[in-house]
Amino acid sequence: MDSIKDQKNLNKKKILLRLDLNVPLKNGSITDETRINKIIPIIDFLIKEQSKIIIISHVGRPKGKVITDLSLKPICENIEKKINRKIRLVKEDIFKLKKEDLFKNPNDQIVFLENIRFYKEEEKNDTNFAQHLAKLADLYINDAFSCSHRAHASISKITKFLPSFAGLQFETEISALKKVTTEIKKPITCIIGGSKISTKIGIIKNLISKFDNIIIVGGMANNIIKYKGNHIGKSIKEENCDLMIKEIFETLKSHSCKIIFPDDVLVGKNLDDEPQIKEITNIKDDDIILDIGPKTLDKIKSIIKNSETVLWNGPAGYFENPKFANGSYDIAKAISNKNNSIYSVVGGGDTIALINKIKLIENFNFVSTAGGAFLEYLEGKELPGIKALN
Ligand code: 3PG
Repeated sequence: MDSIKDQKNLNKKKILLRLDLNVPLKNGSITDETRINKIIPIIDFLIKEQSKIIIISHVGRPKGKVITDLSLKPICENIEKKINRKIRLVKEDIFKLKKEDLFKNPNDQIVFLENIRFYKEEEKNDTNFAQHLAKLADLYINDAFSCSHRAHASISKITKFLPSFAGLQFETEISALKKVTTEIKKPITCIIGGSKISTKIGIIKNLISKFDNIIIVGGMANNIIKYKGNHIGKSIKEENCDLMIKEIFETLKSHSCKIIFPDDVLVGKNLDDEPQIKEITNIKDDDIILDIGPKTLDKIKSIIKNSETVLWNGPAGYFENPKFANGSYDIAKAISNKNNSIYSVVGGGDTIALINKIKLIENFNFVSTAGGAFLEYLEGKELPGIKALN
């Protein structure tokens, strides 16, 4: 894998820079800027080299449609302020863009293409789309490690058509995760939560041989609670997961790893409701599971206390509402309290947002911007984005 750091003559070169600016947005405002802050170094580096920069990113999951609320405009403006430079947001159809049009004004140094997932071709890893993107530039940089588990056109296929390089944040993430996987101290606990159930449920089976404890919380736990014969009311869930969960429990039989999922939860009738503690055997049809309960939390805290390494990805509940944030906050505090006696890695946009909110981010040994990519890397898979650069 070639690093952009080692490249000479980037002056005036047109560079397609894939970033992961998939930050949490609320009513058009960015609620956590960590992912943006982490990519400022690559932009500064390319500005210094006097390259012409074409930023590509996605936010959210528009699934090939133009959704105004998922415009990159607020993110583009945020970066403009951070680097104190104008950036032109290009809304024209990518298929109609020509290389010579992008930097017509010689003062333009950075342009920002609108949400790449507005194009259905992106997620299909479409060759024609990748070729078209490639025609806009002289070389390509992937500085979006957190998207590198996706075989998408701007991550994977694009590398077939341009000299391609790893970006600065991409390299930092890989070397930190390499360290985690080679120097890891046991007992190791992996906490998996959040709502991207389809991304993560298939990974768990392959993590069983690597960890002593796998704690499943948040939306991720709902399918397991249901599989075990309980009702989950109106809680989020993924369809057709039972076979995967069956395999998880089958695999567990031949390993010493323990899987922990909630015994009790906090429910509400809607996202703003008052929390009610319930055993998982007692959930009603109109309940929504929104956090883990106190009994489960105590169990998790004691496992953290007895671990040497803790890897955490995905909140334990709907932390956006403080009434349902306790589980996530207490997990963060339990890991932080062990400060020097534990190696802790946290990953994923929402998890970073929540530890930032309670100002505990400094207490973790490594903060990865990646969520799904982080877990797939731990699983030992070669990520499509890494494979493409190799
Ligand atoms: C992430 O937030 O993990 C990345 O931006 C990938 O997003 P995705 O899960 O929608 O592909």
